[in-house]
Amino acid sequence: MNPDILFTPFTSPKLTLKNRVAMAPMTRQFSPDGVPDDAVLQYYKRRAENDVGLIITEGTTVNHKAASNEVRIPGFHGKALDSWHKIVETVHAAGGKIAPQLWHQGGMRRPGEGAYPDYPSATPSGLVGPGKKVYEALSNAEIDDLIAAFTQAAKDSKDLGFDTLELHGAHGYLIDNFFWEGTNQRDDQYGGSLVKRTRFATDIVQSIRAEIGDDYPIILRFSQWKQQDFTARLAPSLEELEQFVKPLSDAGVDIFHCSTRRFWEPEFEGSELNLAGWVKKITGKPTISVGSVGLTEEFIATYRGGEAEVASIDDLITRMEADEFDIIAVGRALIANPDWVTKVRAGKFDELVTYNQEMLSQLI
Ligand SMILES: Cc1cc2nc3c(=O)[nH]c(=O)nc-3n(C[C@H](O)[C@H](O)[C@H](O)COP(=O)(O)O)c2cc1C
Repeated sequence: MNPDILFTPFTSPKLTLKNRVAMAPMTRQFSPDGVPDDAVLQYYKRRAENDVGLIITEGTTVNHKAASNEVRIPGFHGKALDSWHKIVETVHAAGGKIAPQLWHQGGMRRPGEGAYPDYPSATPSGLVGPGKKVYEALSNAEIDDLIAAFTQAAKDSKDLGFDTLELHGAHGYLIDNFFWEGTNQRDDQYGGSLVKRTRFATDIVQSIRAEIGDDYPIILRFSQWKQQDFTARLAPSLEELEQFVKPLSDAGVDIFHCSTRRFWEPEFEGSELNLAGWVKKITGKPTISVGSVGLTEEFIATYRGGEAEVASIDDLITRMEADEFDIIAVGRALIANPDWVTKVRAGKFDELVTYNQEMLSQLI
């Protein structure tokens, strides 16, 4: 099938891209003391030179002592900001665009991990999973500090020249800990109904808006599934999905990045639409889809050492031609093939390389 649809420009009120391929955010842990070095810069530069439309960086942690479980995960504060600035300039010089993925790990950071091992992890109800209480619930003052940390990171993103930013609200980390009742049992304004569980995220978005204005594009990544439970669903029905995304959209999210492990899976019975397809339909806003593009195996399976071979992207092309979603994020295929975009555009599918876990041992 002709993949041209992938290479048409993306236009939206606050963000334009030269094509519809984004690099999915992927943690690489190659930043000594949380500061991305030249190897990290070269890694992103290679993808920009090879025409990735939008690079979403690996998760980079906001300025909070419990944000990170690993000192080689890049921070988004202090000394790291100079490095990020160089990366932005390099990506722009290569004709690319770039967003930081702003991250706080919440309950996924285990006791004793990270640069501040004695500091307790931050999670809305002290839960690291359903029924697993390890910490004290966050106080309202602590929640205000976390909102302020995300807001400062957003301001820095804009000041450093990033084209947009992505809030990591997926996969069982802090923002998702608030979304999911398995980790949010609060009975104040931040918990209770599904809508109230969006409050932490909407407070962050509104606080960012108040600080940096309406013109800067904000992407929110969310997922139904959690690392704590792959079968969990924030919104088991279409009605619940509507309840969930509306306050986020109203608060000022511009683009929803709907994280699924296989992009072709229908979200609800009776329709082929995937999660990104439904969110686009409900909100009228652009969406990003993701999950096993061009590969035979989903990413959790390959974490456990498996390989993922090159697979057809015909179904992706069909869905994008039908305008089901606007942008496709590509993860592991872009680790294996920094030139994935240029190869696919040239129809050189037979030159694409299989992905395997060992590729994560270095930045290629
Ligand atoms: C090594 C690795 C690191 C990842 N780190 C992140 C991350 O920091 N933030 C995030 O939202 N998702 C992360 N993910 C998930 C990817 O963004 C993506 O959703 C997933 O790999 C599925 O896309 P793929 O099948 O094209 O690889 C990671 C995935 C991999 C393989």
